[in-house]
Amino acid sequence: MDRPRVFIARSVPKKVEEFIAKYCDYEKWNFEEDISEEELVKNLKDMDGLLISGTQINDRILEQSPKLKVVSDISVGYDNFDLNAMRKRKVIGTNTPFVLNETVSDLVIALILSTARRVTELDSYVKEGKWNKDIGSELFGTDVNHSTLGIIGMGRIGECVARKAKFGFDMDVLYYNRNRRLDVEDKLGVRYADFDCLLRNSDFISVMVPYNRKTYHMIDYREFGMMKRSAIFINTSRGKTINEKALIDALSSRKILAAGLDVYDTEPINFKNPLLKMTNVITLPHVGSATSKTRFNMAMLAAENLVKAVLGSTVPNVVPELKDLV
Ligand code: DGY
Repeated sequence: MDRPRVFIARSVPKKVEEFIAKYCDYEKWNFEEDISEEELVKNLKDMDGLLISGTQINDRILEQSPKLKVVSDISVGYDNFDLNAMRKRKVIGTNTPFVLNETVSDLVIALILSTARRVTELDSYVKEGKWNKDIGSELFGTDVNHSTLGIIGMGRIGECVARKAKFGFDMDVLYYNRNRRLDVEDKLGVRYADFDCLLRNSDFISVMVPYNRKTYHMIDYREFGMMKRSAIFINTSRGKTINEKALIDALSSRKILAAGLDVYDTEPINFKNPLLKMTNVITLPHVGSATSKTRFNMAMLAAENLVKAVLGSTVPNVVPELKDLV
């Protein structure tokens, strides 16, 4: 039997490449810049599988890739998949859940702590030689311990954040989710709140929902208007789950106190974006899962998903919307 052929569109660690090479013939994208749609199509002509990380997959690409059986994404979020097109073309999509939960939730906690205690602002203050005497009250921070955290989206990562917040910082944790999570309520002592109630009562609000049509701009002008003036807003999900203009308005007109962001409407963020000028905003370059260990584990899991799919074995991480294709 011919060995399956796969295309690796994003550079992966050598060990991951070696694993793929054991089972498949492969070609890879060897350039620093992201692959264009045109190049992707050229390279996919006779490929059975594709390994990507966040690349947009649409019907134009699939239409011109007649042998393609699987797109394996090195990512837990898969809003880059056109699920209808994939269903139509019978191409399955896989993602990398579980292996990044602890790492992403660590970053959420890091953003909560660093916005509350103004870590980056005070770091610049010291480095710029402004520390000549004890700081004044205008630079004081906000307590994280014993405050209220509102989690929007109690999935696997939300649950890890809740555990760290509850047992690390004695926070009162409220959550809002499509379905109530009685298991998490029992285990961690967190409380379900309706959406508006969570927005009104939380000191920290962290968005951790997948991005799709239903979650597009779920935090908009109305929602920012309901938050406490002292609220700190954290987004590590996807930029488009919030209306970024409404966030900029809320921060510049002091409707909320601060924000910790890892994701943006456009990525990489435009250098002229007003968020980059605000000292009460911490901006990270989409690094929720970016530790060496976790990124390696994600790439290896994606490679396993890819290989299993092209060999016709049971594939463990097919995205829920396409599970019935296997
Ligand atoms: C994920 O895995 O979804 C991360 O946000 C990287 O895209």
